[in-house]
Amino acid sequence: MAYSAKRLDGKIAIVTGSGQGIGYGIAKRFAEEGAHVVVAEINPTTAAQAAQDFSKIGPESLSYPIDIGDPDRTPQMVADVVAHFGRIDILVNNAGISDKMTLMEMTPKDWDAMMYVNVRGLLFTTQAVARQMIEQVPPEIRQAGRSDACQGKIINIASIAGRRGRSDAIHYSTSKSSVITITQATAMELAPYHINVNAICPAAIWTALYENLDNRMAEKLHLAPGEFFKQRIQKIPLKSPGTIPEVASLAAFLCSDEADYITAQSYNLDGGSEMN
Ligand SMILES: NC(=O)c1ccc[n+]([C@@H]2O[C@H](COP(=O)([O-])OP(=O)(O)OC[C@H]3O[C@@H](n4cnc5c(N)ncnc54)[C@H](O)[C@@H]3O)[C@@H](O)[C@H]2O)c1
Repeated sequence: MAYSAKRLDGKIAIVTGSGQGIGYGIAKRFAEEGAHVVVAEINPTTAAQAAQDFSKIGPESLSYPIDIGDPDRTPQMVADVVAHFGRIDILVNNAGISDKMTLMEMTPKDWDAMMYVNVRGLLFTTQAVARQMIEQVPPEIRQAGRSDACQGKIINIASIAGRRGRSDAIHYSTSKSSVITITQATAMELAPYHINVNAICPAAIWTALYENLDNRMAEKLHLAPGEFFKQRIQKIPLKSPGTIPEVASLAAFLCSDEADYITAQSYNLDGGSEMN
């Protein structure tokens, strides 16, 4: 179903990892709501296809193949997007990886790979984009150090795995609790400019990422494919998985004018699994 509201009309939005999965769904909703979407995605094939899809739904979308973990690339992405569209209004830090691993199984390489994308990549993408958003604040407001009108929106896709330590995914859950902390810290630093930063914490959504986890656990625990996911859903109070459009709806709301007074918050989208 196409979404008909146009709350993001004319906005320029970078969505990382939007070649597939949750990022694709968020970017699609943004395009439906009138935004120009930049598909900042490591896979050039899915990036190109997604940008083509979004340009058919909404205004011109741009494919930007990039590894967001590489802090040498993100400032160039910001410069290229500004050269093309003139400004940046929204950043969604969605790109992320996951794995299932205990403390005893973990190697330093596993740890570094997780932190490289989920924490370091998210932090330095935020830094590069926030510099541009601050630059866009009219000089008189920037000098006064206070803006009453919203000057930008940043959304981080965390996870309920960041709400408490997970013994079967110590590196992933640490990375996502870091995303929640980064959300709070950057929201405080950017509040004087009225650049709002919030996070969304989904539970279990069937995507390629979850299918990989399911396969890994099926092998480890001798389960049929899909069984690990099914068992996971049974632990959710509402007894159903989350959906990509539900994440997209919350992201679009948080990026709209309707949410201009909301910052530094992390929203669980989890069927009642967590209450903090
Ligand atoms: N699926 C779930 O159940 C679930 C639950 C909670 C949180 N999340 C989070 O949601 C986000 C999206 O997950 P998904 O399930 O859609 O996963 P996915 O694997 O389907 O999609 C992730 C996308 O990010 C891209 N990507 C990965 N590393 C990148 C990099 N270094 N630079 C640029 N792009 C990169 C991938 O190519 C892919 O297109 C992740 O941050 C994930 O941790 C997912």
